[in-house]
Amino acid sequence: PPSSLVSLTVNGTRHTVTVDNRTSLLDLLREHLGLTGSKKGCNAGACGACTVLVDGQRHNACLTLAVRLEGVDVTTIEGLAEGAQLHPLQQAFIDQDAFQCGYCTPGQILSGVGCIQEGHTGSPEEIREWMSGNICRCGCYVKIVRAVEQTAG
Ligand code: FES
Repeated sequence: PPSSLVSLTVNGTRHTVTVDNRTSLLDLLREHLGLTGSKKGCNAGACGACTVLVDGQRHNACLTLAVRLEGVDVTTIEGLAEGAQLHPLQQAFIDQDAFQCGYCTPGQILSGVGCIQEGHTGSPEEIREWMSGNICRCGCYVKIVRAVEQTAG
């Protein structure tokens, strides 16, 4: 199948890889770069487990073709902490006990970072609306919203 060379930055590191043109950003991250923090739930844009930031904007990595990402900047869950210092939203998820099994958590946190960066934190309802594409089968929604609220201040 046709393949292409794509060069992009992930968590501050530049990568140049040859990928099959049908490869999603999620498969590029997980299978080519070994970054398995972004999860594959539905692989169809319906669960949010694969959420990452592309040039600061929230994206479902499973729906994004890797070959279209020449030159972009991707942030995944592996890129949020600074050394031993967790990102404030990662800490807030711990403080608020905002997960059980943890499978959706990387996507929830990246979605929450997008929510805070774009200023959609005026009320719990606004946060809930923004986060509504991120499914949690353990039902931690109330605590997830609290963690985003805690971080937004
Ligand atoms: Fe991408 Fe479900 S795996 S939205």
